[in-house]
Amino acid sequence: MDSDRTWMIDPAELIAGLSRALDLTEGEPMGHSVRSCWIGMQLAEDLKLEDSTADELYYALLLKDAGCSANAAQVSSWFGTDDHTAKADLKQVNWSRLSEAVRFAVRNAAPGQHFTRRLSQMVQLSGRGISAAQELVHVRCTRGAQIVRSLGWDGDVPDAVLNLDEHWDGSGHPRGLKGEEIPIMSRILLLSQTAEIFWRRQGPDAARQVVAQRRGTWFDPSLADVFLSRSNSRQFFEELAAVDAPDSIQHLFPRLETGMQDLRDVLHTAEIFGQIVDAKSPWTRLHSIRTAHYAAQIAAGLGWSEHDQAAVRITGFFHDLGKLGVSNAILDKPGQLTAEERQRMEVHAALTFRVLEPLEALRPLAYAASCHHERLDGSGYHQRLRGEEVPVFAQVVAVADVFDALTADRPYRAGMSPEEAFALMRPDVGIKLSGPAFEVLTGLAHPLALPEGLEGVGP
Ligand SMILES: [Fe+2]
Ligand SMILES: [Fe+2]
Repeated sequence: MDSDRTWMIDPAELIAGLSRALDLTEGEPMGHSVRSCWIGMQLAEDLKLEDSTADELYYALLLKDAGCSANAAQVSSWFGTDDHTAKADLKQVNWSRLSEAVRFAVRNAAPGQHFTRRLSQMVQLSGRGISAAQELVHVRCTRGAQIVRSLGWDGDVPDAVLNLDEHWDGSGHPRGLKGEEIPIMSRILLLSQTAEIFWRRQGPDAARQVVAQRRGTWFDPSLADVFLSRSNSRQFFEELAAVDAPDSIQHLFPRLETGMQDLRDVLHTAEIFGQIVDAKSPWTRLHSIRTAHYAAQIAAGLGWSEHDQAAVRITGFFHDLGKLGVSNAILDKPGQLTAEERQRMEVHAALTFRVLEPLEALRPLAYAASCHHERLDGSGYHQRLRGEEVPVFAQVVAVADVFDALTADRPYRAGMSPEEAFALMRPDVGIKLSGPAFEVLTGLAHPLALPEGLEGVGP
């Protein structure tokens, strides 16, 4: 499949596409980061930032939430509720004011739970207030900066992400930086994301109002003025409303000399996003990474070309991308899921495709990735495909995925040995799961080899 094909994808487009996955984790609709990027780049134009700084700003705006999955499990357990709702609300709350922090805690603590449990959670959270916010922000920003660094940026871009939640008056987190101590890019990131959220939820007036209200507290006053003057037209918000998919900001794509135009670069980026998915739940630690490497080893055993081995590895890294859109209340639940929870969990396969869909060059891989729960007899999800309708990359990833799920520890049981996993999989081989892929898997030396730094984490 596609053996001679080279992936030609603009790095700016790839990152814009993948920012849709980060939106999901933050409880925002896909397109939030792309729109925040558009707002920030309008400001950059008025500020007359140098081209190289504006290029870096583009990536910082899209990757601002790269660390977002790292605190999802914590948000879910602290609030006893859906991390997406809590996280989306967190962005609107002015944590520097205790009364607002308490109101947030009251609104978000375990809705639908028994009153006494809800009450005790509220009390705990309101006591925690600012320190809770500090810890959550610290985890997210530090991890975010690390991820941006591992994607190849150093200096200003990771720094912008690290300081995203610092406020002009020193009331922000994690370090309480003040005024011009805060990098200009971080100031732009905070204003852009806040304006986007208020615009989408409540319209143009609310966006302008929040910037005017927080001018000098959250926001750099001169930057707030630039926004207020730039957005003082119907046209600004009409243009913003047209921004959604990555290609709607194509005119902003930075033209870097080192393009991410070969498979190795895409592989590396895909791996980092696999890590972001895996960080969302303590129980899926390294799952996407292992699934990807196992799938590639199976592909090698099947005699596939190096190109197709790499492509199936990318498919593996991406396969559970949609899980970023599933609440940790479901992902981390110790025990059987209810029918409704199962349904919400199964949505992840379709979401994987929806995140990647706008990236035309990767669409075949995106489709295969979203089919990893399809089964040859039509009993899988989400499209109930049958036999050859299931893309061959998906068949290989499915075998690797099931094998890793069985051999890794889960909230409700310890991981199995490879032999125990094979015994459990065997009845499905040739019926639900690909026979050739399974045969190759059983013939490999176990534990399976993993790249340096990941050894010892396999079964
Ligand atoms: Fe999955
Ligand atoms: Fe998976």
